[in-house]
Amino acid sequence: MEKLVIEGGKPLNGEVRISGAKNAALPLIAATLLAPGVHVLHNVPDLRDTRTILRLLESLGLVWEREGTTLKIDGSGLRYSEASYELVKTMRASVLVLGPLLARLGRAKVSLPGGCAIGARPINFHLMGFEQLGVCCELEHGYVDAHIEGRMQGGTVYFDIPSVTGTENLLMAASLAKGETVIKNAAREPEIGNLIDMLSAMGAEIEGKGSDRLVVHGVEQLTAAESTIIPDRIEAGTYAIAIGAAGGDSIIKGCDPGHLPSLLEKLRLAGIKIEVGEDYLRVMASPLKNSIHPVDVTTMPYPGYPTDLQAQFMALMACSSGLSVIHETIFENRFMHVAELQRMGATIQIDGRIAMVKGLENKRLKGAQVMATDLRASSSLVIAGLAAEGRTDISRIYHLERGYENMVDKLTGLGAAVWKENE
Ligand code: EPU
Repeated sequence: MEKLVIEGGKPLNGEVRISGAKNAALPLIAATLLAPGVHVLHNVPDLRDTRTILRLLESLGLVWEREGTTLKIDGSGLRYSEASYELVKTMRASVLVLGPLLARLGRAKVSLPGGCAIGARPINFHLMGFEQLGVCCELEHGYVDAHIEGRMQGGTVYFDIPSVTGTENLLMAASLAKGETVIKNAAREPEIGNLIDMLSAMGAEIEGKGSDRLVVHGVEQLTAAESTIIPDRIEAGTYAIAIGAAGGDSIIKGCDPGHLPSLLEKLRLAGIKIEVGEDYLRVMASPLKNSIHPVDVTTMPYPGYPTDLQAQFMALMACSSGLSVIHETIFENRFMHVAELQRMGATIQIDGRIAMVKGLENKRLKGAQVMATDLRASSSLVIAGLAAEGRTDISRIYHLERGYENMVDKLTGLGAAVWKENE
């Protein structure tokens, strides 16, 4: 297994280019199951998770090829309807094949994802939604066995909590259902807008993009189309926070600052200077001690502060000049990074879903041996390592490789001293 080594304390100066969004690529790749023919997807990041979903598509009968960041996926060969535990257990977003399989084949047998490091993460909203469209969902031997005779029938679906992949699954299923489907309290993340654009290019009729009420007028068939994955807002946000924590003056290129409204506001409040361009961010932070102001954060569905940037912001707050309160409202167990940050000298107290972070004022975090527990927790440790004094060794970096493309090269390009070593 490989570990990541960081020699901390170097400011980040230069330019970094943002890749396509993991959480947009996954549903768009799943959507190629909806229509025969060759779909062309541009700006697809090459990540552990995108490779996993492509393996899953192969196991369902599809073929694909990659040329640089462009993927060509032929949806014609679809003939199997079962997603095995082996694939789903490594990536819970595999449940995104449920909607397309039901729409195309009338059957989907997909392993239940089970819990993961950040919480229980059930899929009851997805199943309840399919049932509203006439699907029978049975749970047997750890699998969801969903089936319907003929086409799904449009219906009304209300989510108690806006679910990102739940909304995406329902959009894909409803696109080929008979009649109209209304999704109420739908999630509004930009990745959903990206999926709606792809489905529309394939011939789907969807109203309400960007709002929490989506109306899908089902069509009889969809055709293959060409789409582009939006830039990864979480990757861009991670680099912005890293520059804030380590200090420096850098340009984050190829991103969409409009997708980061809450983070940019929080960074400004923390005293970090941000220049916003149409497709870039310039982040300027003093590497001097005691210059980061404490800022409270509560995670919320989009356009609120993203849970996927909570761990990274906590690393920044650990270096601040006072007390900040971080409230995680989306996932019940997303504080796994806290114990590792504490090993680096951070002062953090947890009370349920609230973390109280006492900044180190004029002291610095100290490099240490730490362990990555999930994707975003890993990037928070990277940020802490960049800001810390001395050497940090982060083990289990396969988590990081699930969602950050070429992180070592990108950070090296900004002047960080970071490399991989065998454990
Ligand atoms: N929920 C339920 N039942 C469901 C679905 C969701 O109770 O059937 C709850 C969840 O437990 C959670 C809340 O609803 O409390 C919202 O979860 P959501 O369904 O929106 O999460 P998700 O679709 O499984 C996606 C991202 C996550 C991101 C969340 C929240 C993808 C592939 N994954 O997950 O990304 O944290 O939305 O924004 O889009 C990551 O990239 O590191 C990551 C975990």
